[in-house]
Amino acid sequence: MSVGIDEISFYTSSYYLDLRTLAEKQQTDPEKYYTGIGQEKMGMAAPDEDIVTMAANAALPIIERVGSEAVDTLLFATETGIDQSKSAGVYVHRLLGMHANCRVVELKQACYSATAALQMACALVARRPESKVLVIASDIARYDLNTPGEATQGCGAVAMLISHNPRILSVSPDVGNYTDDVMDFWRPNYRSTALVDGKYSTKIYLRALKKAWEHFTAVSPLQFNDFSYFCYHLPFSRMAQKAHQHLAKLNHCALTPEQIEQQIADTLLYNQAIGNSYTASIYIGLCSLLDHLEADLSGQQIGFFSYGSGCVAEFFAGQIQPGYREGLHTERHRALLAQRQEINYDEYLSLYRYPDPQQGESVEIPQTTQGRFRLAAITHHKREYIPC
Ligand code: HMG
Repeated sequence: MSVGIDEISFYTSSYYLDLRTLAEKQQTDPEKYYTGIGQEKMGMAAPDEDIVTMAANAALPIIERVGSEAVDTLLFATETGIDQSKSAGVYVHRLLGMHANCRVVELKQACYSATAALQMACALVARRPESKVLVIASDIARYDLNTPGEATQGCGAVAMLISHNPRILSVSPDVGNYTDDVMDFWRPNYRSTALVDGKYSTKIYLRALKKAWEHFTAVSPLQFNDFSYFCYHLPFSRMAQKAHQHLAKLNHCALTPEQIEQQIADTLLYNQAIGNSYTASIYIGLCSLLDHLEADLSGQQIGFFSYGSGCVAEFFAGQIQPGYREGLHTERHRALLAQRQEINYDEYLSLYRYPDPQQGESVEIPQTTQGRFRLAAITHHKREYIPC
């Protein structure tokens, strides 16, 4: 039985900062961002947006199609948790009117946890083929101002419906894993921004790719040349380009540098306009590939490298299904990005510094989001989400 992604939809904030604006303020050459790290814009969440509202916006078109009774389990992957106990998914469950017999849980391992959620969802569906699992990954990437990480901020959420006989991608059960206790990127509970050893993190990413790939090829009959395209975790698009060159070299690949570049180029386009969305980024990369590539991908093998700092990594394969375009939301994604509003540097700073109540004071939050759900208030330590 084939199990995998039946439908996929993403959401990001309606506000973005062009990295030329950031470069100008920092008196940096904008080409360092546009070419050096391969990023153009970064999404900035509005004060009344967070991982819950973005997640509900991403999942809404799926629930509108399948109905609120159809999903048995909601797995919510994030590293921008809003509560140490309650799953962000429980708020989404109410906002989307999902039924009370649906189980909900949150998963964490940096950017990797969406892939853990996907694999667990596939296992649940394999056990009960009539069940459907909603996997949501939602994150807001935040670094300190004036640090090398600042230009790689971003925000986004992706929702994927996992079912048997999926319309988009059949996920292979063969996976290559790699885990190592390293401190390349982390965020202690008392901080709202991540700490990162940037250069070290890029080295660990490449090492994890090599190790996960070696494990994958030991358990799977698929080899490098069996894959047409590759989706990488996308902290910034240049990282994926470096990773893919690294993998091609490890495999003594006979393709030209241009052909190697073509195997990932379309996966990078949304990320270049959104920035890092941590758990969501690899699957927004999949949306980018499927929404942009004009050629029919049916039957093609896609390689996925999922990386989460700390670190856990996984290489796995998926085969594109005939008629996969029926499970996409290409027009919606294009409109979402086309309708975004550019912000200036002062507006960026005020969004960045928007006060997050720490001591339990009650606050009303003005409506700013263009999305369908918003965080309206925090009262007596309780977050109040409403439809717009
Ligand atoms: P940096 O150290 O300021 O940048 O920040 P740099 O000096 O290394 O320059 C970057 C590139 O731009 C270099 O190219 C320069 O040569 C080039 P490279 O040598 O790498 O090929 N450059 C220029 N190019 C054209 N014109 C110019 C110019 N100037 C320079 N004028 C760094 C880079 C990655 C350290 C920083 O962005 C950072 O700290 N980012 C955050 C950490 C990160 O994203 N790490 C990635 C791996 S870890 C990961 O993916 C997990 C993560 O998503 C979290 C999770 O799992 O939860 C982060």
